[in-house]
Amino acid sequence: ETLQMEVEQIMKGSFKHFMQKEIHEQPESMVQTMRGRMVTCDEGKTAERVFLGGMVNFVSTIRRSRRIILCGCGTSYNSAIAVRQLMEELTELPVTLELASDVLDRQCPFFRDDTCVFISQSGETADTLKAMQYAKERGALCVGIVNTVGSAISRSTDCGVHINAGAEIGVASTKAYTCQIVAMVLLALALSEDSISRATRRKEIMQSLLGLPEAVRTALKLDAQMLALAEALKDEQSLLLFGRGYNYATALEGALKVKEVALLHSEGILAGEMKHGPLALVDETMPLVVVATRDGSYAKQESVVQQLRARGGRLILIATEGDDQIAEVAGKDATIIWVPEVEDCLQAVVNIVPLQLLSYHLTVLRGHNVDQPRNLAKSVTVE
Ligand code: AGP
Repeated sequence: ETLQMEVEQIMKGSFKHFMQKEIHEQPESMVQTMRGRMVTCDEGKTAERVFLGGMVNFVSTIRRSRRIILCGCGTSYNSAIAVRQLMEELTELPVTLELASDVLDRQCPFFRDDTCVFISQSGETADTLKAMQYAKERGALCVGIVNTVGSAISRSTDCGVHINAGAEIGVASTKAYTCQIVAMVLLALALSEDSISRATRRKEIMQSLLGLPEAVRTALKLDAQMLALAEALKDEQSLLLFGRGYNYATALEGALKVKEVALLHSEGILAGEMKHGPLALVDETMPLVVVATRDGSYAKQESVVQQLRARGGRLILIATEGDDQIAEVAGKDATIIWVPEVEDCLQAVVNIVPLQLLSYHLTVLRGHNVDQPRNLAKSVTVE
């Protein structure tokens, strides 16, 4: 036992917990996800195209499929939500999402001209594996987005992209989440490579991908601010997070982190649904996180901030560095978390970082087990 503890301490290095280490590793992990897959010129400064060795023989089949289904559980499912919009835009195919456990419960209609993408950090999640076998039986093409090489899902899919985020030990998935998004953005880019009309958009995304590790590194500097925010929130009963578009995923994933490790009730809400129920929960005491970075949803989020402020909610905003306008709308009592701007479809990767840090600090301050939350296992190998 002592030996085991010593080995763990060596693995954690200067960090207190694996979750903390894995949050801070994200810039390097992302570089690994992209390594050998981004073809560049100008000594790596300019992105040319994406190369996915495991996918080259399958791209045209996927392009001809009638829809793409993204499937996973928990955080892996949230990463699917984060990339759905981009995948629809770049492939012009309908992209639907399925929670793996629901595929069997519902006996989902899967067909041989479907492409099913299975997303899993461990590659051993029973629900995801079963959903994959189910899809295979129906003749669908099965693609894996998996972190663990040699895992059950990675071995039995037809093709795929390894996430290459490095071993993730903390039960709360952090670096796997952001790297899954990066891996699926690469996949979406590869699937649209023959589209001339999308060439400019693709270049912009690839260029932004090259700068993404640095943007995440900047976001990690929010650590002290997130510790202070955790101090202020540690005795709360509940936390609501609002996001939309690319950042609906940020709201859901932020809430999942807060509930699973900090054991604090938290709900991620699609901001468009606010008036259809959740707004009733808002009063002067309720802490509210609103993701309001600059993208196509900005104007709508600005009005969400206005409405929440009008009801006296305690506002915490995630906003784009230098955006004075949103600061004014939120008012002087709001807490603003400033993040660097990247391409819209990648912003969710940056925006989740302060929420990961917040959930980490909340957990420590509330005195809970960070790396082994009660009742949970790293890979859920039973249904
Ligand atoms: C994430 O923090 C959770 N521990 C959990 O939701 C996890 O993402 C889910 O069980 C799926 O695991 P997988 O990616 O290994 O398949």
